[in-house]
Amino acid sequence: MPVISAPHDFNEGRLFVDLEPIFGCPLYLKCEGFNFAGSIKLKAANEMVASAERDGILKPDSILVESSSGNLGVALSMIAASKGYKFLCVTDSRCNLSTRLLMEALGSRVHIVADPDENGGFLGTRVEYVRSLCASDSRYVWLSQYTNPGNWRAHYRTTAQQIASHFPRLDVLFIGTGTAGTLMGCARYFRQWHRPVRIVAVDSVGSVAFGGEPGRRMIPGLGMSMRPPLLDESYVNEVIKVEEAETIRACHRMARRGFLFGGSTGTVVSGATDWLSRHDARDITAVAIAPDLGERYLDTIYQTNWLQDLYGDQILDPEEQMTATIPEREPVTRKPDRRPQP
Ligand SMILES: Cc1ncc(COP(=O)(O)O)c(C=O)c1O
Repeated sequence: MPVISAPHDFNEGRLFVDLEPIFGCPLYLKCEGFNFAGSIKLKAANEMVASAERDGILKPDSILVESSSGNLGVALSMIAASKGYKFLCVTDSRCNLSTRLLMEALGSRVHIVADPDENGGFLGTRVEYVRSLCASDSRYVWLSQYTNPGNWRAHYRTTAQQIASHFPRLDVLFIGTGTAGTLMGCARYFRQWHRPVRIVAVDSVGSVAFGGEPGRRMIPGLGMSMRPPLLDESYVNEVIKVEEAETIRACHRMARRGFLFGGSTGTVVSGATDWLSRHDARDITAVAIAPDLGERYLDTIYQTNWLQDLYGDQILDPEEQMTATIPEREPVTRKPDRRPQP
């Protein structure tokens, strides 16, 4: 039984969900949402803060500042609160309301940029704002998840090893790509492993992380409006791009079976099941990584009006809708029983 005194000291690393009963193909999902920050980003945040402390970059009066679509912001908020640092998160209008409120509840300040950059995303605007803050006051410390090697090292040391020790005969690993920290940490680890592992990066349509045309992306977490500086494509065997509509369908399909995951999990699972359906998967050992859980997406991915406004009325099959199977009826009221009671 773990007993902890700092929130970042706990992280469930051994949990996998067998998705075969839901999707009919062999796929294990590594769940990274079971820690106090609720996402895989706790690992990167921990590693980056610890190495900044070791290097003497963080001082008692430092103000951490970071550009984040949300999850790294929550993780840094939690670590900053625990260690006594101040933290300012620079995010954008796609950040979920609950994620923003979480950061504020942990004592952080949240700045939301509204102007898109030239690729239609917000990353350029967010980073520009962070740079101007750092230039204005030397107390600001920007760990820069996009370039910080601690981001991928965290996954090399933890995520990849946890997968390797549970699946010694792993054949293929599906990894969603934002900053590419998870991807590069796992890819570097498995490059040196005892057997070859196919590394499949999963990205969203509209992201330019691996090239291609920029486009609208409404689901935070995966995808980038620039090429991730940490990305080294020589470690990646394949890239799959997933439409947001498919992400949403995969999320709802899992929710119908009681597993409420976040948007990037829907993207990775959709990409992985599509890949497995195109290959002879009978003897394949396949793992995908689920970066977070679904509660932060209740007002977006799991909210009918939001879905229909953005993706149209046909986005979900009627049987995929959570409430569709429950008839809407007035409860039947029984006549009061006037017989004498024993
Ligand atoms: C929910 C979620 N999924 C996936 C990712 C991408 O992970 P990485 O930045 O390691 O590529 C992020 C990153 O912020 C995220 O928040």
